[in-house]
Amino acid sequence: MGWTVRPFCETDFPAVWALERVRDAEGYTSAVTVRQAAALWPATFLVADGNDGAAGFTIGAVSSDPLVGWVLRLKVHEDRRRKGCATALLVAVLERLRDVGVRAVRLTVAPGNGPARALYAGLGFREEAVLPAYFGQGEDRLLLCRPSDPPLL
Ligand SMILES: CC(C)(COP(=O)(O)OP(=O)(O)OC[C@H]1O[C@@H](n2cnc3c(N)ncnc32)[C@H](O)[C@@H]1OP(=O)(O)O)[C@@H](O)C(=O)NCCC(=O)NCCS
Repeated sequence: MGWTVRPFCETDFPAVWALERVRDAEGYTSAVTVRQAAALWPATFLVADGNDGAAGFTIGAVSSDPLVGWVLRLKVHEDRRRKGCATALLVAVLERLRDVGVRAVRLTVAPGNGPARALYAGLGFREEAVLPAYFGQGEDRLLLCRPSDPPLL
C-alpha cells in the first residue's frame, strides 16, 4: 500500500489523539513525553527542587517561528503548592526563552483552571483566543500569550 507522509494538520487531531490514548492505556505516553522532552529541550525543561527532589516542573520550547515560544507543561506536586514553586519555574523558563531570542510566549489553559489562570495573569499573560474542543469534545482551552516585555519580576 502506498502512503502519503505529510506534516500534521488540524483535522488530524481526533485520529492522532485516539492513537495516543491507546498508548496511554499501556502507561507509556507520559514517560515518552518526559524522556523525549528532555532530549529535545534540555535548556528549557526545568525542575524546581526544594532540596528533596523535584517538587514541580515545566517544559518550554521554541516554536517553528523562532520569535515565539511555548510553555508546554507546568505542574507542581499537590503538597508543595502555593509556595511560589510555579512562579519560580515560569520566571526561569520565560527568561531562558527570552535569552534565545523569543519575543512572545504562548500556552493553553482550561477555562475552569482558576489557580493556573491566576498564576498566568499575575505574570502578564493575556488571553489571545478561545480554542473550542482543542483537546477534543468538551475540552476547550484558552490561548494565552505574554510578550517578552515588560521584564519579569
Ligand atoms: C497551577 C499550579 C501550577 C500553581 O502552582 P503553585 O506552585 O501553587 O503556584 P504559586 O505558588 O507560584 O502561585 C503563584 C500565584 O498563582 C495564583 N494561584 C496559585 N494557586 C492558586 C489557587 N489554588 N487559587 C487561586 N490562586 C492561585 C496566586 O495568585 C498565587 O500567588 P499567591 O500565592 O501570592 O496568592 C499548580 O496548582 C498545579 O500544578 N496545578 C495542576 C497542574 C496545572 O493546572 N498546570 C497548569 C496547566 S495550564
